[in-house]
Amino acid sequence: MKLFLVSVALLGCVALYMASPHTAPAAAAALVKSKVEPKEVILSKDAKDPKAKPVLLTHENHATKNYARDGKSVMSCAECHHTDQPKAALTGVLKTSQRDVLLTSALLKDPNAAPVKTCRECHAQTGQKPAEWPAIPTVKYPDEDDETVLTNDEAYHRNCNSCHDDVKKRDATTKAPTTCAGCHNGGTKP
Ligand code: HEC
Ligand code: HEC
Ligand code: HEC
Ligand code: HEC
Repeated sequence: MKLFLVSVALLGCVALYMASPHTAPAAAAALVKSKVEPKEVILSKDAKDPKAKPVLLTHENHATKNYARDGKSVMSCAECHHTDQPKAALTGVLKTSQRDVLLTSALLKDPNAAPVKTCRECHAQTGQKPAEWPAIPTVKYPDEDDETVLTNDEAYHRNCNSCHDDVKKRDATTKAPTTCAGCHNGGTKP
């Protein structure tokens, strides 16, 4: 009898534990920090403008092949993850550093290394409050009169399109898409 009661109590605990929100997968959370490098990512899945269809990012290609502007080298992870580099390495308008060593694949194998934040944690969509930043970041470009609000739209276009445009100038046959429809093609390879 005693044993039976103990079992019931235990079962009750197990049931409670299973129902607790801590064990439920955070599937609803679109924004995640992670240490797992994605092979491919589909961006722009929730654009407010229906014409801005999903965009493919071949993450592994960009991180491991000669996709740098010169076509001869692998770009640094910080070309995109710009806050993941030491302060001394920052150039241009960049002034925010959240890592004392440059992000690399090897670094992420260190159990103490902080996970990588998605861009949208800071560069939120227009009208949204970023999860990781007090407000959508702004910068003042020397050649522009007003501050630029770096929404996801601005941040991604400045990052992806500026490089693709440069690549296209160097190599007219490049696979790097430079048109709206070329990128916003539903998330498929060009
Ligand atoms: C090199 C690829 C690329 C090109 C070229 C490009 N985009 Fe985008 N665009 C993106 C990415 C990546 C995002 C960010 C998506 C995200 O936040 O998940 C984006 C975001 C957007 C958004 C914001 C969607 C939202 O509400 O979150 C709009 C609108 C948009 N693009 C329109 C355009 C238009 C119009 C053009 C052509 C003038 C264009 N894009 C060209 C890659 C591209
Ligand atoms: C061309 C730009 C680009 C380069 C280069 C790049 N990344 Fe990323 N990476 C991204 C984008 C954009 C995302 C976010 C995808 C999303 O929002 O789901 C991402 C996501 C990640 C994630 C998952 C984080 C998360 O929360 O989604 C990790 C880990 C990561 N990158 C590590 C690296 C490492 C390590 C390198 C260098 C070896 C690298 N990345 C190079 C653009 C890049
Ligand atoms: C922790 C917050 C944070 C994250 C994560 C983040 N950014 Fe930024 N980003 C900023 C801030 C803040 C600025 C303004 C300049 C500064 O303070 O460094 C900025 C500036 C930029 C700029 C303008 C720089 C220029 O030279 O024109 C681009 C483009 C950009 N971010 C793209 C990205 C992309 C792409 C990702 C993801 C791969 C990303 N950011 C992740 C906070 C962030
Ligand atoms: C610093 C340069 C650079 C940046 C930044 C960059 N790309 Fe690319 N991308 C390239 C190059 C180079 C190629 C094509 C190489 C070739 O022609 O084989 C490419 C190709 C692609 C392709 C075609 C598939 C493939 O792997 O060849 C897609 C899709 C793409 N990029 C999306 C993006 C998106 C989305 C972003 C921003 C999150 C981005 N790229 C940022 C340089 C860049």
